[in-house]
Amino acid sequence: MTDGWDALAAGIECELLPEADIQQRVHELGQELAAHYGDRKPLLVGVLNGAVIFMADLVRQMPVAVDFEFMAVSSYGLATETSGVVRILKDLSTDITDREVLVVEDIIDSGLTVRYLRRILEERSPADIKVVTLLRKEKAGAHDVEVDYVGFEIPDEFVVGYGLDMGGKFRNLPYVGIAKVP
Ligand code: IMP
Ligand code: MG
Repeated sequence: MTDGWDALAAGIECELLPEADIQQRVHELGQELAAHYGDRKPLLVGVLNGAVIFMADLVRQMPVAVDFEFMAVSSYGLATETSGVVRILKDLSTDITDREVLVVEDIIDSGLTVRYLRRILEERSPADIKVVTLLRKEKAGAHDVEVDYVGFEIPDEFVVGYGLDMGGKFRNLPYVGIAKVP
């Protein structure tokens, strides 16, 4: 057994967001969201699998009552390219009518996933939909979709760690880094 991250870190080109910076920003977002929602008990909808780590940390920085659930969506396509089609793989089991919904995303890349989620959730008559994403890429498309809270604006690179993967790997890294091209 090794207690280091060396084996995984060998696949990382460079660290982009250190663990402490992420924790600090998640704390700020949690405080901001808690102040916004107060005692209105929002329903947080995490997008599997990438947003799991962010969701787990975020709700623990929101000192108010919340509900949370997860959805899985898939954009058809290859590992590092987002294609144009999105479909639901796992839906909510909660009725969101008249609820204040907060979609929790790991990253906005093309913006396609969040645009799709906003559209299908809107059809279910929630009281409100907001979106929080940990990361948003500096690229066309990413800024065309309405996002209410952004953790970090990042360059248009393929990033991994803190929930984000490349071919299933690196999700458990506690920081965000740019992966080496395999
Ligand atoms: P979209 O292109 O905004 O629809 O992003 C779709 C999904 O692709 C995101 O929710 C992530 O799960 C994944 N994704 C996009 N960019 C990256 C990246 O740089 N690293 C890892 N996953 C990514
Ligand atoms: Mg995602």
